[in-house]
Amino acid sequence: MAPPAAVIVTGASRGIGAATVERLLRAGAHVAAVARTPIADRPQAGGPDPVPGRLHPIVADVATPSACARIVEETIDVFGRLNGLVNNAGILEPLARIADSDPDRWRHNLDVNLLGPFYLCRWAIPHLRRTGGRIVNVSSGAAVKAIQGWSAYCVAKAALTHFTRQLAVEEPAITSVALRPGVVDTAMQNLIRRNGGQAMTADQSTYFQELKAKGKLLPADEPARAVAWLALSAPTALSGQFIDYDDPRLFTPDAEVFGP
Ligand SMILES: NC(=O)c1ccc[n+]([C@@H]2O[C@H](COP(=O)([O-])OP(=O)(O)OC[C@H]3O[C@@H](n4cnc5c(N)ncnc54)[C@H](OP(=O)(O)O)[C@@H]3O)[C@@H](O)[C@H]2O)c1
Repeated sequence: MAPPAAVIVTGASRGIGAATVERLLRAGAHVAAVARTPIADRPQAGGPDPVPGRLHPIVADVATPSACARIVEETIDVFGRLNGLVNNAGILEPLARIADSDPDRWRHNLDVNLLGPFYLCRWAIPHLRRTGGRIVNVSSGAAVKAIQGWSAYCVAKAALTHFTRQLAVEEPAITSVALRPGVVDTAMQNLIRRNGGQAMTADQSTYFQELKAKGKLLPADEPARAVAWLALSAPTALSGQFIDYDDPRLFTPDAEVFGP
């Protein structure tokens, strides 16, 4: 019998990343869970029963190349293989129009959202080639839409989405997908409602305030289910594509593992 899949998930301390870790554990995978904030080495309340050795937390900053090399190395040391890489860690700031943006903060956004995934892929690819593994880059609708005050984020997500196409062309043994997770009820949306008004148009600001007020934000588990499924089961035919969390091509043929 094949050993359980081993998957790296970045941005695993909260939001979509934490929910993805829970989904993966529930599906029987081994998970290296990465964030700058230490993560408890047992799943959160309401999650699956803790199984010793299946969750390996790693404290690391994906903006640092050496930290990304260490993440891959440690995962291989602990689990002995790598089947999936989920580049989920992301930041929105700076929230400022281009002419008002601090250059260091703008560059840092690309360091986290774009270069972090590049560094991790750089070191993960040799291991993923061996297992015919999968890379899931958590992108955003912002990759295809310019939003006033979000320039670094929109540019980074557009580049991450194109980077996924590059991966598909260069690495045919690996399935690489960029996912649009929808508008999700996480700390990032809190930040948009709290600080976005200074930089965004009034219409955009109202749009995000109303999504929350009307209960229309997605729970993190909804895109997480798609991310986890893709990390374990994405078919080769999806490689290089930018797909929505609710795309009908997802969840076949493993729907029973991931529920309705
Ligand atoms: N929420 C939405 O509506 C939405 C929509 C479209 C796309 N997305 C994308 O979905 C992904 C997850 O977002 P979320 O909404 O779950 O955000 P979130 O709640 O703010 O979580 C972000 C995660 O990234 C981690 N992180 C940030 N900087 C990091 C770094 N330098 N190194 C390692 N980890 C880092 C954070 O952990 P630490 O702070 O502990 O490091 C945290 O676990 C992001 O890529 C985001 O762009 C979200």
